[in-house]
Amino acid sequence: MAVIRKYADAAAVADALIDEWTLAIPLIVAERGRCTIALSGGSTPKTLFQRLVARGKAALPWHAIELYWGDERCVPPDHADSNFGMAERELIRPFELSADRVWRIRGEAEPEVAVAEYRELLARVGRFDYVLLGMGSDGHCASLFPGSPAVDNVVDWFVANPVDSPLAGGKKMRLTMTTVAINWARRVRFLVCGADKAATLKAVVEGGADGARYPAQLIRPLVGDLAWLVDRAAAQELS
Ligand code: 6PG
Repeated sequence: MAVIRKYADAAAVADALIDEWTLAIPLIVAERGRCTIALSGGSTPKTLFQRLVARGKAALPWHAIELYWGDERCVPPDHADSNFGMAERELIRPFELSADRVWRIRGEAEPEVAVAEYRELLARVGRFDYVLLGMGSDGHCASLFPGSPAVDNVVDWFVANPVDSPLAGGKKMRLTMTTVAINWARRVRFLVCGADKAATLKAVVEGGADGARYPAQLIRPLVGDLAWLVDRAAAQELS
């Protein structure tokens, strides 16, 4: 059973995760010398980054935090659609985070090259301390869109995934972790905000199992813990 934590709005969702991080990350760093976080894309993380900056760099041990991404679009880092680009504008640059602690997916490279590079990197990281995910109104997470090949891939940790969805802007190649990589993490946190997610959130967390239709349902950490941090608008249809 997934843990669902409800908050007033997107800012409160972000603050709740940051509060958890202020307690957990120093302990993770004390235990293992670093904290590895795989970020999601989309718009929700922008609020998180802005709240992190508002909280101030001293709130977390950024010298020991390593940033990765769960997925990326096949675009250069300065492209408006780049998940890394948004993080760079909203968090990395304001905090002047060291480049040697930020491991972006090279969306500008040939997909198979970017995949090979990130697979090698993920093999070195092993189990992430945190994987952040958002959820699309179609039930996708990372770039695991319903009906796309990567949803069923339980062998490779990272793949190029041809998606065809209005939420992805039509037919697009995406670069994404698979469920097997995400489910190996120690902690997975979904951040889901907005009324447009309400029906899907209910189906995902309260409905019958249908991972093909709702890939977010396939996120069940093997030994890690999963929590959903949702705002009131997204939670409005939950029992
Ligand atoms: C991406 C994200 C994607 C996102 C969801 C939710 O690359 O687009 O990884 O999975 O998390 O689409 O997006 P919002 O946060 O904008 O609702």
